[in-house]
Order: sequence, then structure tokens, then C-alpha cells
Amino acid sequence: MSVTSHRADALSGTVRAPGDKSISHRSLILGAMAEGTTTVTGLLEGADILSTAVAMQDFGAKVTRQKDGSWTVIGCGEAGFTSPKGDVDCGNAGTGVRLIMGAAAGYKLSATFTGDASLSSRPMGRVLDPLSEMGVSYTAQDGGRLPATFTSDGALSPLDYTPPHASAQVKSAILLAGLNTDGITTVNEPTLSRDHTENMLKAFGAQVTVKPQGEGQKVSVTGPVTLKATTVNVPGDPSSAAFPIIAALTTPGSDIIIENVMMNPTRTGLFETLTEMGAYLRSDNFRTSGGEIIADIHVKYSKLHGVTVPENRAPSMIDEYPILAVAAAYASGTTIMRGIAEMRVKESDRISATVALLEANGVETTEYEDGFAVKGGPVAGGGTVTTHHDHRIAMSALILGLNTAQPVSIDDGAMIATSFPTFFELMNGLGAKIETPEA
Ligand code: S3P
Repeated sequence: MSVTSHRADALSGTVRAPGDKSISHRSLILGAMAEGTTTVTGLLEGADILSTAVAMQDFGAKVTRQKDGSWTVIGCGEAGFTSPKGDVDCGNAGTGVRLIMGAAAGYKLSATFTGDASLSSRPMGRVLDPLSEMGVSYTAQDGGRLPATFTSDGALSPLDYTPPHASAQVKSAILLAGLNTDGITTVNEPTLSRDHTENMLKAFGAQVTVKPQGEGQKVSVTGPVTLKATTVNVPGDPSSAAFPIIAALTTPGSDIIIENVMMNPTRTGLFETLTEMGAYLRSDNFRTSGGEIIADIHVKYSKLHGVTVPENRAPSMIDEYPILAVAAAYASGTTIMRGIAEMRVKESDRISATVALLEANGVETTEYEDGFAVKGGPVAGGGTVTTHHDHRIAMSALILGLNTAQPVSIDDGAMIATSFPTFFELMNGLGAKIETPEA
């Protein structure tokens, strides 16, 4: 499904950010491990999360959407996960597959994990190798890629692990496996990554300790423990809110409010960077929901200027660089984004995909092995962007097209449903002109 976005007039209105993808995955996975019935409100009903819901059923949990829009998960509890009958298809979801591998590792079972073309090209060794140190045996394709099959005897040993770089997915997988070991499992994070797993584990009754360590932290979980069901209220996703925010910042005359955005400091690096670039971003109505701070964000069109993004900020905005590059394309001067080599192993190689997106539309960029620089100014547009099954590349290109001289097209908008199924409705409701051929 190709999609085209056209130059827009000022955006206006108030919208609610969709549920956070990271917290949605975790709510279903921890709910499936727990004893009792977990209720989840505000779940992101994106394709990635629906893949995780099906996977949790494959392992024996019962996941149901209720009439009021909430979801319930009857967990496996003491009995534990069981071997799925068929392959566990995790679709496009890296977070889904890596966290589910960690969760499943602690039970006596064997499972084969598969995914779409994008997920099948992503490295899984970063999770499978530490899990094998704990006692899991596995086979995978070259470079630890999917399809991968693993077998666990359900008697894992605790692990003290230092990942080579900050990754919440790796940290989470190891902590989840640690729940079913006899002892303390520790992850030594070189820099802080998003902390939703440790926060949610505490809410589900696990004993988690977090101690600062250099620029990072030491996170430990004590096993064995059976999680206890609870209620999870999923806050709005700052990574999704980034798209309407940057649309408003770059479209002259815009004035919008985005409600219910999670303001967890491990996720708000983009807001900090945009503020440094001169953005009008005002957060108010701060409140707490489900253990997370949320706020409403008021955004107005702003004359942005280029900055150098500090490299140590990357973990708190790792998914936001493609859309930040769009803001940079309209800023005065050059924006330098480096120290982000991890982007090469996301849903696509996001360094080369972002550079190609901008260059196809006349923006001057420089690609480095670990990032890119973007020179701002008026943007010609007129390009067709290859999205490589990557939702964030697709949405970034469409937001770029709101202010280009010529429309911007993408080859395929279908993947947007993985993280932001209401993207078209929400953006066009604010005044964007994003069209599919059938529309
Ligand atoms: C996520 C962690 C990040 C991020 C991904 C979601 C999570 O990946 O890119 O979209 O929910 O834990 P890494 O932890 O591998 O950097």
C-alpha cells in the first residue's frame, strides 16, 4: 500500500497518544507468567502487541479483549509456560521475541521462534547467548537469526551479566529468565536503558534491586518467584507522540496538544533535544498512572536550529532518530547525530534508511558508520521512500512530506500498524494531508 503526504496548512487540535509499545508488550508477558488474572487498560492494539498476545496463548496463557476495551490475561502462574504446539510467530516485533525468549527460558519446554523478513534479519544471539549461559540450548540461523529453536530443562542457573551495550531488550530477557532460577540474577548496564521491566516486575511482586554503577546501573532480581497478577494502566507512547510533535514543530502556524504522554526520563531524550533546538514544547498536567509519570504536551510551530546530540543520550531516544532527522531537515544549520550504531540493527538499518529517505527528497546528509549529519533548509520532496518493513521510517517520511515543495511517497504504509494503528486518522484529524491510493 503506497502512501503519499502533501504539503499541509497549520495543524491544530488535541489528541491522545496511543498506548506505549514497550509497556504493552511487558504487560502481556508478565501477565502470562503471573498467577491470577491481570487486567490491562490502554493497551496498544498494534500488530506487534497482537503478535505477543497470540504468543502468550501459544505458551498457555489466556488473553482476552473485554467489551470495555481493556484486556485480561489469565497467567500460567505456578504451572508455568508449556511447549507451544506450533512455531511462535513474533511478526515484526524485536521486543516481543527477545522478551518472550527470556520469559520462556525459565520453564521446561522447547519452542521455535519465527518472524517476518525484517525480524528474521535481526541478531538474536545477544539474548540467546546469555540465556545459553544460564542453561538453555538453542539452534538458530547464521548470526543467531530466526527461525531459532530453544530447549530448556527449566532448571536455569542465575547469571551476572554485563551486556556490551545498553539494551533494555537484553536486560529484560535476562531478568525474566532470572525469575525462575534459584538465586540472584544481575545485569550490569553500561548506560541506563528504559526501566519498564524492573518497574513492572516490582508491581507484579518480584524482588528487584537497582543500584547506580558508573554511568549505568546494576539491576538484580531474586528467584525463584511466581509473579502475582495485577492491573497495568498503559501510558501514552512518547516514541509515537514524536510524530505529531515534530509535524507541529515544522508546519508553520501549528498549535496542538498531545495528551497522556509518558515522561519517564529513560524515554524523553527527544524532548530534551528538541528543546535545545529551540522547540516550543510545554508539558503540564503531570500525574502518575500505573507507576509512570504522564503529562500533556503543548506544541507550537518553532524555528528550529541544528545541534549536536550528546552520544550518551542515545538510549533515551534510540527509536526517535529517524523523526529527529526530519526535524533537522527543517532546522537552520546542521544537526549531528552520532554514537547510534545500534540503529543499524533495528527493524531496518535505520542509519542508511534515514539517509536514503532524506536524500531522495533533496536533503543534504552525511552518513557515518555510527550515525549521520543533516543539513537543514527548505526541502524539495518529490521522492518515493523505501521503508524496508520499518514503521518508523514510513511515518518519518510522511511527516517530512507535510512541508516539502513536492509530495513525498512511501512504497508501503502497512507496517505503520505495528506501533501506531491510528496514525492516519490522528494525523489527518490534526490537518495533515496523508493519502492512500484508495482514499
Ligand atoms: C525496547 C528497547 C529498545 C527499542 C525498542 C523497544 C524495549 O531496543 O529500540 O523499540 O521495549 O525494551 P534495545 O533495548 O535493544 O535498544
